[in-house]
Amino acid sequence: MSKTVAFHLQKGGVGKTTISGTLACQSAMEGFRTLVIDCDPQGNLSSWFLSEPPKYELSDVLQGRCYVGNAIVVAPGLENLSILPTFGIGGTLKNYSETKLAEEPFILQDLVKEVSEEYDHIILDLSPGLGRLERSALIASDEIVTPMTPEVFSLDGLEIFIDELAKLKKNMRAAVKHNKIIINSYDERIRQHRDIFSAAEASGRFLVYRIPVDPLFRKAQEAGKVPQLYKVRGRGLKVATQQAIKDLDSSIWR
Ligand SMILES: Nc1ncnc2c1ncn2[C@@H]1O[C@H](COP(=O)(O)OP(=O)(O)OP(=O)(O)O)[C@@H](O)[C@H]1O
Ligand SMILES: [Mg+2]
Repeated sequence: MSKTVAFHLQKGGVGKTTISGTLACQSAMEGFRTLVIDCDPQGNLSSWFLSEPPKYELSDVLQGRCYVGNAIVVAPGLENLSILPTFGIGGTLKNYSETKLAEEPFILQDLVKEVSEEYDHIILDLSPGLGRLERSALIASDEIVTPMTPEVFSLDGLEIFIDELAKLKKNMRAAVKHNKIIINSYDERIRQHRDIFSAAEASGRFLVYRIPVDPLFRKAQEAGKVPQLYKVRGRGLKVATQQAIKDLDSSIWR
């Protein structure tokens, strides 16, 4: 049985793509058949792992222009990692989400069901916001994990997200789990970061994970590489970052 996870908060730039891509690599490196569906019209995750736009993309599948199997590509260098890509140029996914998606809110859920036999782990990367496309992706997931940066505004954003998700689950009769948050770009030396982590834990509502601030993520993305395997002048991800990724990975998929 496959499991589908979306990393989401409506706020931009909190690490949704970085965490989706890094955990997808971790899962693939551990031998699990892993698929990432790039549901973000910006296509950041696809351009991170794929150097050239493939023939078909997610919006072609959603509009019946090709079979899903024709659009899925294997990430270079990681045989267990497959990507159902989106390329931002042309805005076809954005156009689709603003027009036809309204008539078929369960289309991503159906798509996930269609491929679920072929993968152990499916990850959805979403754009910021809580529009139709993000909602369709959220109800297609078994679990939503919320990444946030250690800022006061992120805590406000989390409250809004909890509220909106409760409404979505009720309206769409969706049974999506949401009990984990990730404080991303965490720096133990900064008091505000420690305070936000403590406040999140003290609320008792979530399991709270931390991913350290680590410049190697951005460098690996710029180079189109797997962060866990990438080195700059002999140095890779910090040991604490590698451990945080492993802990998160085992807690999400166990
Ligand atoms: N733990 C981290 N340490 C250092 N930099 C990070 C970390 N996580 C993410 N970043 C960097 O922060 C930037 C934003 O991250 P990312 O694109 O993953 O966010 P996002 O939530 O997907 O953004 P968007 O809302 O635009 O989709 C990127 O440049 C990324 O390399
Ligand atoms: Mg993103």
